[in-house]
Amino acid sequence: MSAYFHYRSLEELQSDAAQRGLRIPLESDRAKVQATLSSPVQVGGVRVGNRLAIHPMEGCDGELGGSPGELTKRRYRRFATSGAKLIWFEATAVVEEGRANPRQLWLHDANERDFAKMLETTRRLHRETFGNADDLLDVLQLTHSGRYSYPQSLVAYSNPPIDKPNMRVLADDYLERLEDAYAAAAVRARRCGFRGIDLKITHGYLGNELLGARTRPGKYGGTFENRTRFARNILGKIRAAAGKDLMLAVRLAAHDGIPYKIDPQTKRGVPVKVDIPYPHGVGNSPQSPEEADLTETKAFIKLLRECGVELLNVSLGVPYYNPHVGRPFDKPDDGNYETPEHPMIGVARHFRIAAELQHAFPELPMIGSGYSWLQKYLVNAGAANIAAGDTTFLGYGRAALPYPDLARDVLDRGELDERRVCKTLTFCTFLMRNRKHPLGQFPTGCPPFDKEVYGPIMRDAKHAAQLTSSKA
Ligand SMILES: Cc1cc2nc3c(=O)[nH]c(=O)nc-3n(C[C@H](O)[C@H](O)[C@H](O)COP(=O)(O)O)c2cc1C
Ligand code: SF4
Repeated sequence: MSAYFHYRSLEELQSDAAQRGLRIPLESDRAKVQATLSSPVQVGGVRVGNRLAIHPMEGCDGELGGSPGELTKRRYRRFATSGAKLIWFEATAVVEEGRANPRQLWLHDANERDFAKMLETTRRLHRETFGNADDLLDVLQLTHSGRYSYPQSLVAYSNPPIDKPNMRVLADDYLERLEDAYAAAAVRARRCGFRGIDLKITHGYLGNELLGARTRPGKYGGTFENRTRFARNILGKIRAAAGKDLMLAVRLAAHDGIPYKIDPQTKRGVPVKVDIPYPHGVGNSPQSPEEADLTETKAFIKLLRECGVELLNVSLGVPYYNPHVGRPFDKPDDGNYETPEHPMIGVARHFRIAAELQHAFPELPMIGSGYSWLQKYLVNAGAANIAAGDTTFLGYGRAALPYPDLARDVLDRGELDERRVCKTLTFCTFLMRNRKHPLGQFPTGCPPFDKEVYGPIMRDAKHAAQLTSSKA
């Protein structure tokens, strides 16, 4: 039974949103939902076949050498036949030490062929299922996990509430070399056949941290010009090395917020005490940093446009310290805090911020996030947001794991099967955070609804977690 999501009809959801004073636009006419979501749209040089986009969803199931593993390939086979015309391939490290876990994908010279094969299969299956893959846009997310790299935390600057004991502050010359590593990875992605790459600047990883590195000395910190140098240089180097045919995309934390911790009494999330004016992060109001201030975010998007970025994926928050911001949820993963706000507040925040940015840059196609909490009504919200010009695509993350063919269902019927939709119970995150596996990391997926594969994995992960806590 859901803690928050209890709506038996669109009207109930609409009326609760109105009572809470939250703007959750919902299109109730099924024919309009179908028509809006099935309309093609131009993104750079690609006419994308519909408005359904699968967000990058890391499975932590790669080979130790960085190649896609069996479960990775299975995920993209499922996405290939899903009906979505934009598939955003998951976080892929550009250097080994920038992986978030030992099973994160990592693209390098020796495994380029494995990525190419995975992409070929995706495109072939899509073509066999829908007759055409010319209108399928695939984008590979390139990343360095920075502070959340494993085993060593590699940070842009010290931030005591979230610092780890074994961290290292990265020197300017490391960052300069890393820019070249991004460009080399983008060239490899191009050779593999990807139509676009995403320079990941979100979720607290290195690109995101550098953009908010006001307290870092030197040429990558302090002023806006310095803090944007890393992204500008990478995009310039990629353009020079990979040519104009490779689409440049960015997944951006429009507002990343402040750290939260668990209140031992109530088990709810409570904000950590931070300095005011708050000096860190992206899109935070300095005086009340839990609130968004998009002034600088917009200035940065303008720069991204000048660097040739043609697609923007708007995200929020840092899953490691304020997961309710990026992924509004009904239940937390084991050991994490209960949501400090009604999840609908988080969904409305996602919608409001994405809409403000889309209206500020109407010519730049954008994808919003945070839809999955709406369960079967996520498609009604996506259609309403697209029709209002508040976003270009409906992007969904968790919702794609239990029910990858949701795109086909909504395009065929104008609605979703409520038995199959994600219930935001967060078992996927529990698996993702669990490293007590012989390969150093449990693979993640949807244990409640993709039971056959992830049920046994979940049992093993729980068992491993119990063993650890009984030893502690
Ligand atoms: C298991 C899991 C893996 C994820 N992997 C990535 C990733 O590789 N890259 C990324 O930018 N976001 C990642 N995310 C975040 C999602 O893309 C998405 O932004 C988030 O789940 C909120 O959207 P939703 O409400 O539709 O799930 C991940 C989230 C989960 C739960
Ligand atoms: S485990 Fe499945 S149902 Fe739960 S949040 Fe993840 S995708 Fe959704």
